[in-house]
Formats: sequence, structure tokens, C-alpha cells
Amino acid sequence: MVNYKDLGLVNTRELFKKAVKGGYAIPAYNFNNMEQLQAIIQACVETESPLILQVSKGARQYANQTLLRYMAQGAVEYAKEINNGKAIPIVLHLDHGPDFETCKSCIDYGFSSVMIDGSHLSFEENIALTKKVVEYAHAHDVTVEGELGVLAGIEDDVKAEKHTYTEPDEVEAFVKATGVDSLAIAIGTSHGAYKFKPGDDPKIRLDILAEIEKRIPGFPIVLHGSSSVPQDLVKIINENGGKLKDAIGIGEDQLREAAKSAVCKINIDSDGRLAMTAAIRKVFNDKPEEFDPRKYLGPARESLKALYIRKNKEVLGSAGHAFDAE
Ligand code: G3H
Ligand code: 13P
Ligand code: ZN
Repeated sequence: MVNYKDLGLVNTRELFKKAVKGGYAIPAYNFNNMEQLQAIIQACVETESPLILQVSKGARQYANQTLLRYMAQGAVEYAKEINNGKAIPIVLHLDHGPDFETCKSCIDYGFSSVMIDGSHLSFEENIALTKKVVEYAHAHDVTVEGELGVLAGIEDDVKAEKHTYTEPDEVEAFVKATGVDSLAIAIGTSHGAYKFKPGDDPKIRLDILAEIEKRIPGFPIVLHGSSSVPQDLVKIINENGGKLKDAIGIGEDQLREAAKSAVCKINIDSDGRLAMTAAIRKVFNDKPEEFDPRKYLGPARESLKALYIRKNKEVLGSAGHAFDAE
């Protein structure tokens, strides 16, 4: 059993309070390898942003749970080292926890926050499962994210063809019955690089968000599936041998708008995948003689870092808020 506090991590409670009050969202960036972690830490330290490092069940299997724990601890130490000894607040979060056992195992291995994704269950079953996770997590001072509504797109074990928007009438009862610390909602974002089809109106339902906020004022809201699928990255990928047809994301202006509300955590994974892939494809195409991984993972790391810096500054508004007073 490892306590996250011994790793130098924090839970989300205070960070979310400040984010809701300050009208910004904390970046939740997925990672599963060293270059991604370096880019995330460098970008968040340079922009003085609080940070949620998130790991899916699949990423945990890919990277190994023991290694991940030390990577998170290393991330805190690294953040201190490059910031004159002062670490930005860092949360280690389980993304899309599929069951109680995975959440418990993450808590026991040093995670400071977990998501239990019961969004595919009935309302009653979702409440029962989420409540069980909250009881275990809160006994260890770990915070919990629940989800109501179904996002389209592909997740670890859950495939949803169509999304079902979160029903504003249900949120208050869910939050009260479960004791969750934050709530992920479905308002038209979706996972992956193909969020809309050509000809769709690529808008998220900010009206439903406003309705939800009325029912649970000031309660921390989370947006999944918030990659914007930058078209310059898609172009580089396709010009260098890739085949991404009609990849369309969420407009950054809409995310900026959402971040000003009680949306205090925004999940971005696919954009990072695109940035990394574009940089690597370009090196492979331009310099086919290269075979030192540092020669293509290095540029990938730089491209990721630039992406995260821009997100923190221009989209989430989290830049400059790492050391906000309460
Ligand atoms: O929402 C899902 C995240 O993008 C994680 O993806 O399950 O392929 O690691 P993954
Ligand atoms: P994207 O696929 O839009 O990056 O969403 C990531 C996510 O929601 C992780 O939980
Ligand atoms: Zn998600």
C-alpha cells in the first residue's frame, strides 16, 4: 500500500475549488511513456499550471503499475528540479476506471484521484457502484470523479456508437447519493479523432451545461473527449504517409467558453497522440536514415510540449494558476 501523499501528489479537492472560482479548467493529460511525461511536466511548469496526470486502465497495463508509481513520483521531483525546488500541484488520476477493483488497486498503488465510469449502467447501478468507490477512496483521502451520460467514441472497454446527453434532472440526485467530488458529463464531446462527420455542425451543448450548473451550482464538472484535432497536425500526418480522413475535433473557442464555467477539468489525449505521430512521421519521411529513437522521440516531445503550453494558455486558461492562494 502506497499513499499518494508520500509520492508528493495531491488530490483534486482544493484544485477544483480554485478552478471553479477562477474560471479556468485544469488540464488532464493522458500519458503512458517517458517522453509524454517529460513534455507534460515541462509545459505545466513553464506555464505555472496545476496538472492532472491521467492514466487509463489500458495505459496502466501498457506501462506497468509499479513503474507508473515511480514515474509519478519522479514527475513531482522533476517538476521541483526545473522550478527552483517548488513543485506545481500534480494529481495522479485513473481515467475511466471500469470497476471497483481497478479503482481500489490504483488507490492502493498511490493514485490521488480515480474516475469510476458507470455511465453505461442504469442510473441506480451507477449510483451503487460509484458510492462504493467513493467510500473506499474517501477513507484514503482520494477524490472521485463519476460520470452521467454517455460519450460517443471508443474507450478502453466501452464502445458507444451514439452519445446520450447528461440529463440535468438527474445530476443533483446523483451527486448527493454518491458523494462524488466531480462529475463528468456528456454534452456532445466524444473520444478519439473523429468526433464529427463532414457536414455536421461541430458544436457542443453549452445550453445543457448551463442547465446542469443551475442544478448543482459551483460543483466541479469534467469534460471528456475534448481534443480539438488540430488540422495542421492532421495535414503533417497525411503528408508523411498517414491516413487520417475527415478527423474533426471540438472547437477550442467552445472549450475556452466551457472552462470559464464550473468545468474545471478538461481531458485531452488524442491531440497529444496526433502531435507525437506527426513529428515522428515527419522525421521518418525526411530522414529515413535515422534509427536512433532519440532523433524522433525528441522532436515528438518538443511538439507535445508546444501543444500543451498553448492549451494551458489559450484554451484551458490554467496558465499562471499553479500557486493560487485559496
Ligand atoms: O478516454 C480514453 C483515453 O483517451 C484513454 O485511451 O484507453 O486508449 O488509453 P486508452
Ligand atoms: P480525446 O480523445 O478527445 O482526447 O479525449 C480524451 C479523454 O476524454 C480521456 O478520458
Ligand atoms: Zn474520457
